[in-house]
Amino acid sequence: MNMTPEAKLIIDNNTYNFPVITGSMGNRVIDFSSLGPTTGLFTIDPGLKSSGSCFSEISYIDGAKGKLYYRGYPIDELTEKKSYLDVAYLLLNGELPTQEQSVSFQQEITELMPLSSSLKKTTEAYLPNSHPMAMLLGFIGALAGENSSNLGIADEKGRHLAYRQIIAKMPAMAAASYRHKKGLPLIEPRSDYTYAENFLHMMFSQTPEDKPNPLFTQAMDVIFSLHADHGQNASTSAVRVSASTGTNIYSSMTSGISSLWGPAHGGANEACIRMLKEIGSVDNIPMYLEKAKDKNDPFRLMGFGHRVYKNYDPRAKLIEKLCHSVLTQTRPDPLFDLAAKLEEIARSDQYFIDRNLYPNVDFYSGIILQAIGFPAEMFTVIFALGRTSGWLSHIEELISKHPHPITRPRQCYVGHTERHLETT
Ligand code: SDX
Repeated sequence: MNMTPEAKLIIDNNTYNFPVITGSMGNRVIDFSSLGPTTGLFTIDPGLKSSGSCFSEISYIDGAKGKLYYRGYPIDELTEKKSYLDVAYLLLNGELPTQEQSVSFQQEITELMPLSSSLKKTTEAYLPNSHPMAMLLGFIGALAGENSSNLGIADEKGRHLAYRQIIAKMPAMAAASYRHKKGLPLIEPRSDYTYAENFLHMMFSQTPEDKPNPLFTQAMDVIFSLHADHGQNASTSAVRVSASTGTNIYSSMTSGISSLWGPAHGGANEACIRMLKEIGSVDNIPMYLEKAKDKNDPFRLMGFGHRVYKNYDPRAKLIEKLCHSVLTQTRPDPLFDLAAKLEEIARSDQYFIDRNLYPNVDFYSGIILQAIGFPAEMFTVIFALGRTSGWLSHIEELISKHPHPITRPRQCYVGHTERHLETT
C-alpha cells in the first residue's frame, strides 16, 4: 500500500492534512487515526457504511463488478478446482497447500473431528425444540472448557491447534445439534470420508456404513467454500472486535456465531426460504414486491441486496447453478421456479434497479440445502460452518499480521446534559 497526496480538511478556518492510502485492490482510504488528537473532532458513520476498520489481505469483494477473491484467487476458480479444506488452508496460511500439505491437513482435521463423550453431553442442556444455532454456541463454549489449557493467544502453535480443533469439530457439533432435535443417535465420522462427506454422514446416515450421495457431498463442499470469507462483514467484524481484546479464540468464535444468526446477515437464508413459502405463488409476487418497497412495511426481500455488491453476488450465481444440478437428482422444487421468477420480476422493477439490489448468497442457498434434506433451522449453522475458516483467519491476521489497538469506537452523545438529583 502506498500514501498518495493528502486529504485536506478545513474546520473553523484551520486546514488539517490526512494521508490517503491506496491498497492493492479497491477504494482508496483516508487515514483518520490522528483526527481526534489533532482536531478534537471524531467521525460518525452509523453502520460503518463508509469506514474501514482494518488492513486485511484475506478476501476482497469487487462490489461494482460482482467479484470475490480469496487471497487473490477468484472464488469461481477455487470452488471449481479446490476442496473446502484447501480453501480453509489458503485463508489461514495465505497460500494454497502443496499436495503433501493438503493430505496431511485433511488427515489432521479428520482425526480431530470426533466429539469427546463430555462434549456430546452439551446437547443434553437443550430442549429438542432449541434452535441449532443456540446449541452451536453451547458447543463452542464447551470446547473452550475442554481446551482450558490452550486458551492463550500468544503461542502461534497453540493458536493453530485451536483453529484446527474448531474447523474439525464444527461438522460434528452441527450434526449433533440436528440429531438431538430429531431424537436420533449420533453417527461417528469416518477416517475414509472427506470433510463434506463426513458432515452429511453424521447428519443423515442411519448406519456407519451408509455413504452420502456424491453429488450432495460435492455441493456441500462448494457451499462451505462460498461461505468461507467475505471481507469485514458483520460477523467477521464482531469476531475481530472480540479478538482485539485479547480474548481466546473460542470466545471470538461465539461473537461470530451470535451476529451471523441475525436475519439481516447469515440468518437471511433461513428467512428467505420462509419468505418464498409465504409468497407461495407467482401471482403473489407483485404484492410482496410492493411490501418490500413500502418504507412503512418492515418486510424486506430476504436474500436480496448487499452492502458491498451493487452487482450480482457471484456466490448467488454459483449456488443457482448448483441448484440446477442438485434438483435434477432430487425432484423439481416449485420454490426454485418461484425464486427465479421473483428474481426476474424484482430485477426489472425500477425500485430495485435504482438501488442496485441483486440476489445475494442467501437467495438460492436455502433451496439447495432444503433439496439435500436440511431443515431451514440448519441453514445458518451451515453458513457458520463454512465461515469458521474465515473468522479464524481474521483472528490470526489481527494477532500476527496486521495488529491494531483494542477496537473501541467513539460516539456522538445526544443524551441529557449534566443534571443532579433533587435535594430532599
Ligand atoms: C449476508 O456483509 C456481507 O458481506 C454479508 C454476507 C457475508 O457473506 O458475510 O454477504 C452475507 O449477510 C448477505 C445479506 C443477507 N441479508 C439479506 O438478504 C436481508 C435483506 N437485505 C437487506 O436487509 C439489505 O440489503 C442488507 C442488510 C443486506 C444491506 O443493507 P444496507 O447496505 O444497509 O443497505 P440499505 O438498507 O441502506 O439499502 C439501501 C436501499 C434502502 O432504500 P432507500 O432508503 O434508499 O429508499 O435499498 C433498500 C433499502 O430500503 N433495500 C431493500 C432491500 N435491501 C436494501 N429494499 C427491499 N428489500 C431488500 N432486501
